[in-house]
Amino acid sequence: MAKRGRRRILYLLTTFWSGAFSISAFAWQLAQQPADRYLAAMDRSDRVLKADEVIGKLELKPGDIVADIGSGSGSFSIPMAKAVAPNGILYAVDIDQAMLDHVAERAKKAGITNLRTVLGEYDDPKLPVKDVDVAFFHRVLHMIEHRQVYLNSTAKYLKPDGRVVVIDKNREDSPNSWMWLNQSDVDSWMAAIGFYPAQHFAVFDDRYFVVYQRPYGNSVLLKKGAAKKK
Ligand SMILES: C[S@@+](CC[C@H](N)C(=O)[O-])C[C@H]1O[C@@H](n2cnc3c(N)ncnc32)[C@H](O)[C@@H]1O
Repeated sequence: MAKRGRRRILYLLTTFWSGAFSISAFAWQLAQQPADRYLAAMDRSDRVLKADEVIGKLELKPGDIVADIGSGSGSFSIPMAKAVAPNGILYAVDIDQAMLDHVAERAKKAGITNLRTVLGEYDDPKLPVKDVDVAFFHRVLHMIEHRQVYLNSTAKYLKPDGRVVVIDKNREDSPNSWMWLNQSDVDSWMAAIGFYPAQHFAVFDDRYFVVYQRPYGNSVLLKKGAAKKK
């Protein structure tokens, strides 16, 4: 049986036996889980996120337009919105409205006014603007079934020198998990749409953290010494 077919059957069985009998619209989104279970997992206090360090490496600044794609519980959306305030906008994108409602509530409680939630589609983040500085994927791209299509859609919302940031896990670093993504595959999908690794940051022990850019404008790719580990 084809690998993808086996994955789908595995996912459907897992969803069924885990008591989430709602084999719903999410059935074809890889490893998607009901929002309440996700939120509990994502808001765990022992999760290693290093959000401030990530924001520092990306040098986010007031005025930037950032899309946190697959924003989940908002672990990155909330601090990123603060980093780009007051005149920057953080778009929290997810395919699950319950996650977005949770993020909006968190933002409201924190007095954040520059965060917008966006209900994306499986193959398109559906952003309302086309001048995004940073499209950020933290542990999300491995869940998207049509990665090449999704990345292609995302690129259409970016400024010419806008950045696509991918933080994910190599399969060989997690042998029991079929769902992660090798960075070499991400590099290939990005290259197919004209983006190349511009920066690698060694922030996490178990995840790669790569910034992709096209060679335009203020792209790091046009500066000396690009794509070095920092
Ligand atoms: C593992 S969680 C990560 C959440 C967040 N980035 C974090 O690290 O805390 C993955 C999130 O991606 C969302 N997601 C899955 N497929 C998506 C898609 N095609 N477009 C946008 N979001 C998606 C899920 O609903 C979920 O909230």
